[in-house]
Amino acid sequence: MTLKVPENQTIVIFGATGDLTGRKLLPALYNLFVQSLLPQDFAVVGYSRTEMTSDEFREHQAANVAKYSRTGLDPEAWERFARHLDYLAGGFEPEGAMHHLAQHLEEVDAAIHGRGRRMFYCAVPPSLFPKIATRLGEEGLNQGGRIVMEKPFGFDLASAKELNRQLHEVFDENQIYRIDHYLGKETVQNILVFRFGNSIFEPIWNRNHVDCVEITAAESIGIEGRGAFYEATGVVRDIIQNHLLQVMSLVTMEVPASFSADDIRDEKSQVLRSVRSLDLNDVANHCVRGQYRGYRDEEGVAPDSQTPTYAAMRFMIDSWRWQGVPFFLRSGKSMAAGRQVVTLGFREPPLRMFRAHKQDIPAGRVNEIVIDFADPGSISTQFLAKEPGAEMILGAASMQFRYQDSFCTANSLEGYERLILDAMLGDQTLFTRADGVERLWEISAPLLENPPPVEPYAPGSWGPEPSLGRLVAPFHWHLSST
Ligand SMILES: NC(=O)c1ccc[n+]([C@@H]2O[C@H](COP(=O)([O-])OP(=O)(O)OC[C@H]3O[C@@H](n4cnc5c(N)ncnc54)[C@H](OP(=O)(O)O)[C@@H]3O)[C@@H](O)[C@H]2O)c1
Repeated sequence: MTLKVPENQTIVIFGATGDLTGRKLLPALYNLFVQSLLPQDFAVVGYSRTEMTSDEFREHQAANVAKYSRTGLDPEAWERFARHLDYLAGGFEPEGAMHHLAQHLEEVDAAIHGRGRRMFYCAVPPSLFPKIATRLGEEGLNQGGRIVMEKPFGFDLASAKELNRQLHEVFDENQIYRIDHYLGKETVQNILVFRFGNSIFEPIWNRNHVDCVEITAAESIGIEGRGAFYEATGVVRDIIQNHLLQVMSLVTMEVPASFSADDIRDEKSQVLRSVRSLDLNDVANHCVRGQYRGYRDEEGVAPDSQTPTYAAMRFMIDSWRWQGVPFFLRSGKSMAAGRQVVTLGFREPPLRMFRAHKQDIPAGRVNEIVIDFADPGSISTQFLAKEPGAEMILGAASMQFRYQDSFCTANSLEGYERLILDAMLGDQTLFTRADGVERLWEISAPLLENPPPVEPYAPGSWGPEPSLGRLVAPFHWHLSST
């Protein structure tokens, strides 16, 4: 995972006028450029239906970069970067619709000595992914090219399988990059380093020591005007099926044979295969769904909507390492706080030497490792210590690692920067393989096919608390109001 500079190439962005391109992709490319992580020569070609000139495209994107880039916009750097940008208007229908793009790319490739190295980034509605692949194949642009697919990859297991089939008609699996931007986070990648780069944590990372694991991605904001999108998606498809199950696979996978893309993806797939399937008729005992009060009044939301803005679920993993340890995954909007946290709760010591002082031990679990994977991220451990003084009184103590205390964080890459750079380098480690994405849908299928009804919860709370308490018992949530 050391930083290398990719070879000269062209990046084609389908959906160049869209929200994702403006808020994430162009700022990420600009920041890679500023950090000298882009090749000596490269071209970024924007493509969508809206008619505009390349100058207008550059102007439009300068405003986006100024607004959304984490380093802001330096006019001199932008001026140098913008020379690499141009724009072509066009669609994906009918057959031959991308012929002018193919011709344009020939010229661009010759100018930058790209030797046909091209990356096609699909930042368009997912229904267009197969059409794009077909058109690229017709023009021969699949030869030596890479295709980056945004989420969601499919809508359920059947559609994900069908999309994989359609893509494989044109591209080999090693040309396909399915993005999950959570995996681009420094803090998520650090889970592997924390586990496998140290000898003090891995020996206790199993059922003998861990009694439960909680993975939370909570947002304090609501749906922010994206009613139509959210109604069609819901929290399970938006966050749990992809991001949280991915994080769970990193927390639970076995040690890979090497840090190569396939060895890591093999181990992730292996542990996902061990996730116990939920019985379609028993989903309600493993899942709580909620909807914040006021959601149905948002624009684009049905007055009787059953779309969950919150879900919590319990998974079991039938593996030697994790047998019997419950994994609680939850995500929600309009929550009490915006937090992204993995908590490993450890078993009680076999003998309480300090029983006489139990009333002084804080309520809840005594030993925890808490990985906060919201940027900039931290890892802390909770344990008991003797409070200073004449009496043997125990108090809760913690040790904490924070990125900014140990490292210069100026060089850290934002998720999309990391993933775009890796795709340009041809490194698939952080991208999801076909079998992985299908397994993620398979695990989630019962939650989508036979879900329990949504329960209302107060905005600014931790969700529908009584049901959550029952789901998690005899444990309790690390983050909650109780
Ligand atoms: N926005 C985010 O934060 C975000 C986060 C994660 C994933 N994603 C995913 O990223 C993709 C794009 O999302 P978005 O929010 O950027 O959507 P968007 O704002 O609606 O943009 C869609 C883009 O696709 C182009 N487009 C639409 N229909 C087209 C067609 N028939 N032919 C050619 N171009 C077409 C549009 O431009 P024209 O109308 O000019 O053609 C526009 O540039 C989606 O798959 C979404 O799920 C987005």
